[in-house]
Amino acid sequence: MLVIALCKGRFLDPSLELLDRAGIQFKDDLSSSRKLIFESADKRFHAVLVKPVDVPTYVEYGAADIGIAGRDVLLESHADVLQPLDLNFGYCQIAVAGPKGAHSINGSDHPTVRVATKYPRIAMDHFNSRGIPVEIIPLSGSIELAPLIGLADRIVDLVETGRTLKENGLEILEVIAESSARLLINRAGYQTKREEVLTFIQALEKARR
Ligand code: PRP
Repeated sequence: MLVIALCKGRFLDPSLELLDRAGIQFKDDLSSSRKLIFESADKRFHAVLVKPVDVPTYVEYGAADIGIAGRDVLLESHADVLQPLDLNFGYCQIAVAGPKGAHSINGSDHPTVRVATKYPRIAMDHFNSRGIPVEIIPLSGSIELAPLIGLADRIVDLVETGRTLKENGLEILEVIAESSARLLINRAGYQTKREEVLTFIQALEKARR
């Protein structure tokens, strides 16, 4: 039995579709159920539903053998896990954004740029690498609001369609990284459950688009 950590939210449907194409189905409807653990129809897998940012933690600690998560959360977590496959969905960018016409990732009024983000590590590393003094303002959602009401000069956030930025009068100033869904594997499990894990990786490799 392998445990797979799946993200709640926008990754769930494409993850389930991918598993389905790989022959792994669940009797329950994971999107609507309030349960958190689900058994696959063939009883070979348990799926656990967790918040996207927690997937690397479940896999790193071995509570889950396998996980599906965005490269964004992996970069932020620095979790020590294997990443054998790009799953080819969930494409987006991690970007610095600010008010339209701002042109630069530097703040205007003060030498220290105030940056609101749910990716404090990625943001700190990026501004440090550019030699720009930065104050990170950690938020957990609605990041685009921060520059609109004076909480921050810039944001570091995910941009998928660009709609949220556009509708809030913001634009990308610099792309930090590209992201997509990745398969994560626990290091110890890769050794101790090698055959099961390798069979699973091969099935997903065939099923991904
Ligand atoms: C994410 C991200 C942006 C938005 C980008 O937020 O943080 O706000 O999606 O998508 P778009 O480019 O297609 O508009 P999410 O929907 O996860 O909600 P949140 O504000 O609670 O983080």
